[in-house]
Amino acid sequence: MEINKGLENVYVKETSITYIDGELGRLYYRGYSIFDLAELSSFEETSYLIWYGKLPTQSQLDEFKKRLAEHRELPASIVDFLKKVRKDANPMDVLRTAVSMMGIEDNNKSESLLDKAISITAKIPTIISYYHRLRKNLDLVEPRNDLSHAENFLYMLNGNLPSEIERKVLDVALILHMDHEMNASTFACLVVASTLSDIYSAIVGGISALKGPLHGAANSEALKMFIEIGRVENVEEYILKRLENKQRIMGFGHRIYKTYDPRALILKKYAKDITRLKGLEELYKIAERVEQVGIKLLGSKGIYPNVDFYSGLVFYSLGFEPDFFPTVFTSARVVGWTAQIMEYLQDNRLIRPKAKYVGEIGKTYVPIHNRS
Ligand code: SDX
Repeated sequence: MEINKGLENVYVKETSITYIDGELGRLYYRGYSIFDLAELSSFEETSYLIWYGKLPTQSQLDEFKKRLAEHRELPASIVDFLKKVRKDANPMDVLRTAVSMMGIEDNNKSESLLDKAISITAKIPTIISYYHRLRKNLDLVEPRNDLSHAENFLYMLNGNLPSEIERKVLDVALILHMDHEMNASTFACLVVASTLSDIYSAIVGGISALKGPLHGAANSEALKMFIEIGRVENVEEYILKRLENKQRIMGFGHRIYKTYDPRALILKKYAKDITRLKGLEELYKIAERVEQVGIKLLGSKGIYPNVDFYSGLVFYSLGFEPDFFPTVFTSARVVGWTAQIMEYLQDNRLIRPKAKYVGEIGKTYVPIHNRS
């Protein structure tokens, strides 16, 4: 009886959504290379691809964009919650609670899972932007239907229209974070969905798993590391000490990739441009040096930069605070989570693994007055 700790190398479903080649560092959504999608596509077009299984025609894309944009407003109860919740809360806790409230507010039993997925996906940037601004005592910036998903996200966050480069960088980052086959948070969603619980509960499970620093919060930890290092000259000593103390280099390593995570390669290019634009070149140079030193020390073990290594620099340059980075990850991954849920439910099987019992059995019950 073999125990697969962490379910390593265990296949739980067949999928046609995402393919990862961990040896060659390749990633495909519905058969299209992530390099092409990042360069040529948009959040809306790639969401359509992942949900519908094919690239949209122009009229299908126009109609889909309209559907997404129409669902950006939040129910009053959620806006009220965001206004009242403590300002020093973890934004992933706030997002998780707000999604829970969406479930409470949703009494539309006839709506399809896809329609619910579109509505939830459209609302998450509004939740993030509202809490970001409320925490800083700034006026709320209501969503605009005439802007693209990425443009509107940055408009609500920063209170002004993003430049073309800012819009492009967020579009690319959201595409790169959209799905990744059977990662921990996706599996958490499937466990909940496989009991035929509701989609909001499944997504709350995904947010709860993605919050962890080994998964979706590594982006904030990586940026904190760069800020802590402070100067390029300090990198080598800092990394060596970190490894001596058995601490992980955040944004490095992956269960599947044993070479560069292709998403890290793509993000690095955009991180270089956007950090220069925002006067954060020094942080970028520190990150680049950490990458070089980390690969020198860990590359032989197949430990390379992953998606979280440069993503924090990108999110920070776009105006997100570090503790919000996992919520930006969530705003994209909710597309993959819901697509994987809908695919799994086509041939559902309650997820119920086993545990190998190693304790004693047949023990005699001793009344409490006879126990020592
Ligand atoms: C994401 O699954 C996905 O697809 C996730 C994701 C997605 O899109 O959904 O790609 C997003 O979560 C990316 C990963 C973000 N997490 C981090 O950057 C945190 C730091 N990385 C690690 O903790 C680790 O690499 C994991 C968790 C990502 C993967 O770990 P594994 O496969 O469980 O490997 P392991 O912990 O068993 O480590 C194996 C060896 C150990 O050394 P030994 O004890 O064998 O000597 O590699 C070492 C580890 O110490 N190691 C690292 C390291 N990662 C692994 N050493 C230093 N720094 C690291 N980052």
